Amino acid sequence: MDTKGLSATAVAVLEAITNRRSIGRLTSECPDQHLVERVIQTTLFAPNHRHTQPWRFLVLAGDARIRGGEVLERSLVRRLEDPEAPSSLEARRSERAKFLRAPVIIIVAVEPSNEPNVSLDEEIAAGAAGVQNLLLASHAVGLAAVWRTGDSVRDEVVPTEFGFAQSSVIIGYVYLGYPDPGHVVKPRPNRLPSKNTTRWEGWK
Ligand SMILES: Cc1cc2nc3c(=O)[nH]c(=O)nc-3n(C[C@H](O)[C@H](O)[C@H](O)COP(=O)(O)O)c2cc1C
Repeated sequence: MDTKGLSATAVAVLEAITNRRSIGRLTSECPDQHLVERVIQTTLFAPNHRHTQPWRFLVLAGDARIRGGEVLERSLVRRLEDPEAPSSLEARRSERAKFLRAPVIIIVAVEPSNEPNVSLDEEIAAGAAGVQNLLLASHAVGLAAVWRTGDSVRDEVVPTEFGFAQSSVIIGYVYLGYPDPGHVVKPRPNRLPSKNTTRWEGWK
């Protein structure tokens, strides 16, 4: 990264954005609740058309992760043709255990405003910008995180099972904790060269 002429703050921000990675292998140590609250608060500063503040969070730790896993399992059961088949039982066990892979699970929902002139797309865009703030803040304070989804986020029953309003959309499950010292970060997927993504017009 070319940092020539940039302030130390600018370099720190750009480095955080560039160096943040998804880390799924975490230790079992649960971060302090205040630290988790602090990183969640950064979502409040995401850009948000009409200031609807549509983001909602359910933050699970300890045994609450087991109950959360049961919601995921019930969702899987609704999708399975034969939930009692041996392969289904194995898939259900695996789904039920998913939230135990991190000491903290932040379930992020967008509860769209029903004010006129507010579009669902923009509400979800604001929520996603909030999640990126949360991921960057986690990286900045030494936590590790990964944003996950899966078929359960498209299950209409799941938002209410997690206590969100029925109109909500689950946009992600953020798995949060401290990085396991043995974690291996996958090589970065190739980024498209900017000539493939950006057109410049009117520049001298
Ligand atoms: C909407 C969304 C859903 C995602 N769902 C998953 C997921 O289900 N499982 C997973 O391992 N990673 C998931 N990711 C994380 C991406 O795989 C990850 O960001 C990508 O591989 C780039 O890696 P990086 O975050 O380390 O740069 C998701 C990311 C986004 C934005």
